[in-house]
Amino acid sequence: MAEPALPTLLRRLLAAAAGLLCLQFAPAASAAPFEDSMAQRVLACTGCHGAQGRSAPDGYYPRIAGKPAGYLLQQLQHFRDGRRRYQPMQRLLGNLDDHYLAQIAEHFAALDLPYPGLVVAHDTPPQQLAAGRQLVEDGDAARQIPACTACHGEQLGGVAPAIPGLLGLPVDYLNGQLGAWRSGSRRAAEPDCMAAITRRLTAADIAAVSRWLAAQPVPARYKPLASADGLPTGLPIDCGSTAAQLPDGVRQ
Ligand code: HEC
Ligand code: HEC
Repeated sequence: MAEPALPTLLRRLLAAAAGLLCLQFAPAASAAPFEDSMAQRVLACTGCHGAQGRSAPDGYYPRIAGKPAGYLLQQLQHFRDGRRRYQPMQRLLGNLDDHYLAQIAEHFAALDLPYPGLVVAHDTPPQQLAAGRQLVEDGDAARQIPACTACHGEQLGGVAPAIPGLLGLPVDYLNGQLGAWRSGSRRAAEPDCMAAITRRLTAADIAAVSRWLAAQPVPARYKPLASADGLPTGLPIDCGSTAAQLPDGVRQ
């Protein structure tokens, strides 16, 4: 299958890096010895997402290493096609084809790295933490909000191939994503269950949930469940992401 010319991502990195946060990474990327490997091609990505796709403790960048491949692929498609907005990534992914995006997704999904202890202490009132925990673990039946654990798993480690884990993410990233879904600037495959759920959450709910999630330590063995069969009751509402057609090989 046709693949973009090797240096495509690197060239786009240099273009994207101009005036951007990860400018300091560009010289290292262009000076690295030439070698035709996926690790080489994704230097453009690791400049921001950290070596091997770990997120930085203080930053906004989400970790991508070890997330389910189907989830990662769909996010790359969302950025490419404008269903998620972040210009530097939209520019990088441009018109890369699904096959190439699937290879990138599989590369990061297969990285098996321990999570560094990234829990950032927040000055969060106990009532706010308790409200966050309750929504995550129990939901709110009166408002038709399912527990987050019903889909993201008891350990919140996600479910292959398309549901991501929710721990080890920066609080600002979580707040930003939930707010973006509620306002429609982040979208996923229809029926977009996360859009339905976030529209039932208040701004205070979103703040509480994000703070509680970001305050949880990541368990030592933190991996997505192998499939939705691992969920006790199946999904409480339908999610298009879990039914999306994925290329062969994208199963993690
Ligand atoms: C300029 C910095 C930057 C570069 C370069 C970059 N990213 Fe990102 N990436 C981000 C930020 C910031 C976000 C979160 C954007 C948002 O608000 O939705 C993100 C989000 C993502 C997500 C979604 C993660 C999730 O948990 O939903 C994936 C997957 C991803 N990037 C992969 C890549 C890959 C693969 C590359 C290389 C082709 C790349 N990124 C290059 C900064 C960057
Ligand atoms: C009905 C199943 C379901 C429930 C319940 C659910 N989620 Fe999700 N969630 C998903 C799916 C599917 C995705 C991936 C969507 C996509 O493809 O972009 C997702 C993605 C996310 C993401 C994006 C993670 C990232 O790395 O960018 C966040 C944050 C999130 N969910 C938070 C929550 C919270 C908080 C709750 C509880 C209030 C919750 N979810 C309840 C199915 C669910």
